[in-house]
Amino acid sequence: MRAAVYRTYGPPDVVRVEEVPTPVPGDQDVVVQVHAATVGVTDGTARRGSPGYSRLFFGLRRPRWTVLGSDFAGVVSAVGAGVTRLRVGDEVVGVTGPDFGAHAEYVRVRQDGAIAPKPANLDFAEAVALIDGTALAFLRDRARLRPGQTLLVNGASGSVGSTAVQLGRHLGARVTGVCSTPHLDLVRELGADTVLDYTREDFTRTGQSYDVVFDVAGTSTFGRCRRILNPAGRYLSPVPSPSLLLLTPWTAAFGRRKAVVAFTGLRKAAEKTRDLLLVRELAEAGALRPVIAERYPLARIAQAHRHLDRGKYGNIVVTMDPAG
Ligand SMILES: NC(=O)c1ccc[n+]([C@@H]2O[C@H](COP(=O)([O-])OP(=O)(O)OC[C@H]3O[C@@H](n4cnc5c(N)ncnc54)[C@H](OP(=O)(O)O)[C@@H]3O)[C@@H](O)[C@H]2O)c1
Repeated sequence: MRAAVYRTYGPPDVVRVEEVPTPVPGDQDVVVQVHAATVGVTDGTARRGSPGYSRLFFGLRRPRWTVLGSDFAGVVSAVGAGVTRLRVGDEVVGVTGPDFGAHAEYVRVRQDGAIAPKPANLDFAEAVALIDGTALAFLRDRARLRPGQTLLVNGASGSVGSTAVQLGRHLGARVTGVCSTPHLDLVRELGADTVLDYTREDFTRTGQSYDVVFDVAGTSTFGRCRRILNPAGRYLSPVPSPSLLLLTPWTAAFGRRKAVVAFTGLRKAAEKTRDLLLVRELAEAGALRPVIAERYPLARIAQAHRHLDRGKYGNIVVTMDPAG
């Protein structure tokens, strides 16, 4: 099969399409013919091996996993003898977990891994753009967002942020989205009641306060947002600054306003599967729609990485079109 392989850290051109062995399913495994996979922020960090401390995880001297990509959508092409949950021909979405491997024509996952049926109303690229469960894990589980509460999403046009705006709305909150000028209309269309342009105003100085600030872009701090948090308000961010790592346990024990960082990729596969099923329900009900900045065929994977390095809104998707 063809796969996007990189063997050294570096610029986008270190990723090349090569022939590699097609995975064979073990007893409890499912092999999926991948139709689409996202090229996300973590893929960029892993490819660059930067910041340096990320190499503790991705490999000290050279990449530990040579094929990137975590979120995939495709069709089950082979199953192990012990597989009961899925059948050949099933259209699925899934997450490979920390060992990547989705930027390839086939990927192997365990049947008890994070895998679920694809939303019927979305094509593979659209379906893969909705897989990331970060917004759900933060807003539902960490913020416990309730109807009538106020939510501000900083980084509202990005992959996590665009889902967060829609989920916030779905959960009954009044949503303010912060993004740059070209994306104001997009964020409004996703359901934000108010949009703020970060190139023109500082969301911490508008005089408004919020029950939940979800700083997806990680450009603010708990200290700066404290004054715009209502009593018992929460500041959440998926970007782990040293201060936020310290403030999370500290504010959990002391103080009414809480700071929260979490690592949603580390959740159990069963939790991720449960969320994939919920996302499917919400997508089919029209409550969640994917945001795709661009689709690239596998042969143009280096261009997809270049796009990632320039900065993106929504999701970048690589498609495994045999003609591509
Ligand atoms: N902890 C976890 O488990 C976890 C899970 C997933 C992601 N993450 C992290 O979460 C972060 C966001 O991920 P993502 O996939 O959503 O990234 P993304 O798709 O690249 O989105 C980033 C967004 O940030 C916006 N932005 C850039 N500069 C900004 C500023 N100064 N103020 C406000 N917004 C700004 C951009 O908006 P404009 O284009 O409008 O400028 C862009 O849409 C990344 O750091 C990622 O590593 C962590």
